[in-house]
Amino acid sequence: MIYDVVVVGGGIAGLMASIEAKTAHNKVALITKGNIFKSNSSLASGGINAVLDSSNNEEIKKHIKDTVESAKGLEDLKAIMYMCKNAGRIVEKLVSYGVEFDKNEDGSIAQRSFGGGSSKRTCYVGDKTGSAITATLIKKAKSVGVEFLVNNFVMNITKLDNSVSGVVSIRRFDSSIVVYPAKSVVFAGGGYAGIYRGFSTNASDYTGDLLAVALRAGLNLKDMEFVQFHPTGMPKTSYLVSEAARGEGGYLVNSDGNRFVNELDTRDVVSRAITEQINNGQKVYIDLRHLSREHIETKLPSLYKSAYAQAGIDVCEELLEIKPVAHYTMGGIEAKMTSTDLKGLFVCGECANNGVHGANRLGGNSLLEGAVFGELAGIEALKFSQNKKFLPIDYEIVARDIKVVDTIFSSQTTKNFNAMRITLGKTMFELCGIHKNKEKLIQAFDYLKYLRKEAGNLHCIDKSKGNNVELIAILELKNALEIAEAIVLSARKRKESRGAHSRDDYPQEDATMKKSILVHEFQKGYFKLWFEGNNLWSKIRRKLLS
Ligand code: SIN
Repeated sequence: MIYDVVVVGGGIAGLMASIEAKTAHNKVALITKGNIFKSNSSLASGGINAVLDSSNNEEIKKHIKDTVESAKGLEDLKAIMYMCKNAGRIVEKLVSYGVEFDKNEDGSIAQRSFGGGSSKRTCYVGDKTGSAITATLIKKAKSVGVEFLVNNFVMNITKLDNSVSGVVSIRRFDSSIVVYPAKSVVFAGGGYAGIYRGFSTNASDYTGDLLAVALRAGLNLKDMEFVQFHPTGMPKTSYLVSEAARGEGGYLVNSDGNRFVNELDTRDVVSRAITEQINNGQKVYIDLRHLSREHIETKLPSLYKSAYAQAGIDVCEELLEIKPVAHYTMGGIEAKMTSTDLKGLFVCGECANNGVHGANRLGGNSLLEGAVFGELAGIEALKFSQNKKFLPIDYEIVARDIKVVDTIFSSQTTKNFNAMRITLGKTMFELCGIHKNKEKLIQAFDYLKYLRKEAGNLHCIDKSKGNNVELIAILELKNALEIAEAIVLSARKRKESRGAHSRDDYPQEDATMKKSILVHEFQKGYFKLWFEGNNLWSKIRRKLLS
């Protein structure tokens, strides 16, 4: 099958991109590695930030200012201004597609407070905003004729010279390698917080596959050390307790019943304050008991149900214990707005880094970023594909991918990928988590090196080709290990504390490091890291590519 535009990723960014890229005369495919209804966007419960009155420049300026302040010097102002100025329009577009945001009594869209916001600007659908938006966008994408290629695991992209020519993927139902030639490609495959398995709100397969694909295609990753820890996950399951709970007036209290932090400060500040309490022997709870049952049931229905189902707690009457967990990753594929160094490849959403979040993302800005830059990526990908010819596929890459899959099937193994995946999550949380230092990072790096060596000997125990979950899990693990190494090396290089990156051995911000860190895989398994603008090699590379 050949397509004018292939979009990879079925969250809000990918869906928006595919809708924009589709015309009456072209073919657009949306590839997802699993079920289309399962994405991080669908889990983003609390809401989407927007100044709804597009003529209210004062409020738009405040949204820009809040976003810039949270980014702690690593922002791209052009991207932030574009996002904040287009927020009201994009919410209108979502409404026109059928999203039913909660309303005030006068019929206007209701908005709640979110952390780090100087105004109430988070639009919501109870506390299931992400799933309401994605369900609507799925219907819209189908209605305009986007083809859904679900259960396709993307292994690599092919290119000719410096232009993308197609996508190589494993069709999960029979484990065969398929190639989708495309004139342009959009990556919108989500972030890598799922690497912190057991300590993350993300599904465990959100491990940065497309970032690993981008590295292999010669692209740079940017600011990989910035991993956001959401202050409130449930301790046993890491299930997200939405920021909406604090936005609706919930308190954070310790075992002594004392509040200890401004609950609506940015997530980095709140997560560190909670960790300090826990390290001092306290437990931390969210307290909603002062809110009426009716308020909780209407504004926080998912939390009400999940607290009961997962912890046996009635939040109207009891405290719910919480702990910070990995939730979102600011790092991603280096981009200018949605463009990359590879012609015809556009990136958006959590897998991309165009500087819109810098060192820390504001709650409510992720669905917004996904919608705004997903739309832009779709427009750009469509434009690029028009009047272009298909380029030849690089069959060396395809042959290599076939060999990788054959090797995983061919031999016997005594290694257990699941145990490795669990220890990877634990290692990353304990050694490269909310608080880092040199010793912990060295230990983390050594352990990753060991795991990478072990992962080379992973093979499927079950040799059947139909829907082989082991095959995909092994490939995901290999990608995750590559991305984990990029995180740890970047965290070692950033010898300061800034935004979501906190080093106990360098507790202050260092003005000389107010720059992004870029990561490039110059040879398989070997990374080169540098501060943006500091490296002659990167300038030469850019010149060669331009
Ligand atoms: C939440 O509801 O707390 C998550 C939403 C977000 O990360 O923006």
